[in-house]
Amino acid sequence: AWKPGNIINDAIATVREQVGEAKALLGLSGGVDSSVVAALLHKAIGEQLTCVFVDHGLLRHHEGDQVMKIFAEHLGVKVIRVDAEARFLDALKGVDDPEAKRKIIGRLFVEVFDEEAGKLEGIDFLAQGTIYPDVIESAGSKTKKAHVIKSHHNVGGLPEHMKLKLVEPLRELFKDEVRRIGVELGLPREMVYRHPFPGPGLGVRILGEVSKAAADTLRQADHIFIEELRRAGWYDKTSQAFAVFLPVRSVGVTGDGRRYEPVIALRAVQTIDFMTAQWAHLPYELLDVCSRRIVNEVPGVSRVVYDVSGKPPATIEWE
Ligand code: XMP
Repeated sequence: AWKPGNIINDAIATVREQVGEAKALLGLSGGVDSSVVAALLHKAIGEQLTCVFVDHGLLRHHEGDQVMKIFAEHLGVKVIRVDAEARFLDALKGVDDPEAKRKIIGRLFVEVFDEEAGKLEGIDFLAQGTIYPDVIESAGSKTKKAHVIKSHHNVGGLPEHMKLKLVEPLRELFKDEVRRIGVELGLPREMVYRHPFPGPGLGVRILGEVSKAAADTLRQADHIFIEELRRAGWYDKTSQAFAVFLPVRSVGVTGDGRRYEPVIALRAVQTIDFMTAQWAHLPYELLDVCSRRIVNEVPGVSRVVYDVSGKPPATIEWE
């Protein structure tokens, strides 16, 4: 029978045999796959593993701190956090085209990761959270949007002198198996069963030009939405849910007078394969609570809308 414990033991034995006494490097994103690899490799080779976590400033509410808390503090994994927010925001100034933003974020991500990797001595292996569906997908399809970050972490992008060999302990596993292993390895359930989050992060959820102010606003609104979804028991009934920052301004009125402010859109979808998706029929009461909390608690937002578009034609992300 398939048991997480057996898979873990096998993977640990394989990794130990492959890596021996050498050192390995891992790009930790906070996503499920790289998180599970970090926990697994830490168990297999302990101090021989160094993780580099590039914080591009487009992560969710407190996400960077949470990653550090779980890995560095709780599990004792060696993690180098690179605070690159200013660099990313700077590079994104004046750019509003979605694909251009993706390219900039992807390119800079590799650049920052490589710079950090280049500072490390004696690394022989690069660990990656490649899972079975990634293997299939990169063999078949030419549109690998969902795996931009992973492919960026391949050996090709790293400094020539490093010549790293790959360690990919999840290569034969499906997502569900990776999650079960993650829980078994002691990662918080909440992290392991989190909705997927795109590599470019809030960069593609702030429509048009990205700014720190918009990212801060969006993080707060998104956090409220997710918190209320969890509270109402809807988080696990949706495949992906998030807030989007719309740069159009709309008129509002409060006791203080007239306001003219950006709009927050909420999106929640149900899907099996993310190729097609239905908008989630969230209860009105839940939407009501989210809307009230967002306009009351997030400065500069006086209107919240809910996205009722299916895919196709509307993609899950707004950009
Ligand atoms: P769309 O918006 O194309 O999204 O319906 C399908 C799934 O892919 C994710 N997505 C991305 N993931 N980099 C990523 O790593 C990207 O640039 C990207 N764009 C979309 C999206 O969140 C959804 O899960």
